[in-house]
Amino acid sequence: MLDKIQALFDEVNSVAVSSKDDLEKFRIKYISRKGILNDLFEEFKTVANDQKRAVGQELNKLKNLAELQLKSFTEALEQGADESNNSRGLDLTLPVAPNFAGTIHPLTLTRQRVLEIFARMGFSHEDGPEVETDWYNFTALNFPEDHPAREMQDTFFVEKKDVQKDDVLLRTHTSNVQVRLMEHKKPPIRSLMIGRVYRNEAISARAHCQFHQIEGLYVDKKVSFKDLKDTLYHFAKEMFDKDTKIRLRPSYFPFTEPSAEIDISCFICKGSGCNICKHSGWVEIAGSGMVDPNVLINSGIDPEEYTGFAFGMGIERITMLRYGIKDLRLFFENDVRFLRQFEGA
Ligand code: PHE
Repeated sequence: MLDKIQALFDEVNSVAVSSKDDLEKFRIKYISRKGILNDLFEEFKTVANDQKRAVGQELNKLKNLAELQLKSFTEALEQGADESNNSRGLDLTLPVAPNFAGTIHPLTLTRQRVLEIFARMGFSHEDGPEVETDWYNFTALNFPEDHPAREMQDTFFVEKKDVQKDDVLLRTHTSNVQVRLMEHKKPPIRSLMIGRVYRNEAISARAHCQFHQIEGLYVDKKVSFKDLKDTLYHFAKEMFDKDTKIRLRPSYFPFTEPSAEIDISCFICKGSGCNICKHSGWVEIAGSGMVDPNVLINSGIDPEEYTGFAFGMGIERITMLRYGIKDLRLFFENDVRFLRQFEGA
């Protein structure tokens, strides 16, 4: 019997337990009422009296070892479970934490859409400076010196010079890029000019001292007013609604002649009258016209050979119409509650 006990010492010592199941198996096999130790104590009753003392000592040692093992296995398992719960902080039943990847700014969404529509009509995209001279912002665009039309665009001046056309200012529209483009490129020119512009206006829900414009310019042989109308009609249908109608109202810009404001039929109420269109059924979206021959001459293009049209619109205005936004200031406040609404737009 001593041999059997000796072998069991080795066995109990070498047992490895890695789960609660293993632990329970160990307990049943050695310690439970039907376990090996119990059998051994039964067998012990039959041991000869002169050996009882020696065998009894060994048997008690084996029992202690088995109980010690059970205790340390239990503790090790509990500690392991604690570690995985607390220190790694994992609860696999919790819902996944939302992953905010950021959203595209609504003005960028509109800009991308406008670019896309015009790209399919063959328009490229040009950039120009925001800090500009009077020449490119006004004089070359046929604003005569001290002409009241300059007052229409409340200008931020950076530097006054001796000669008016040299004054440095923040551009009040993207039309400055028209002149720069025509100076360097010979027709045909078919480009969009997009960017930030500045006007000294009181900030309100409808006006801001900085906003964005998209301007289009098409100069080639025999470009007509009909081309302007067709282009903007196609744009309005693509941008807003395929049933959108357009209306042209006579207007005035120093750099275009004739000039027209472009209205679209209200795509919210379909013309029956609502708050957006102030119950007129129409909303204004752009200024436009045929490029004034003086502008072509100032940019080095012969108006006898070439004609062109131009149009300009505010990205904020188009975006407000598109998404029903009532306050222009929201675009510049960076409030994530506003911006997150454009997730997936
Ligand atoms: N530049 C004009 C503005 O800011 C818009 C415009 C552009 C009008 C091109 C006609 C042609 O008001």
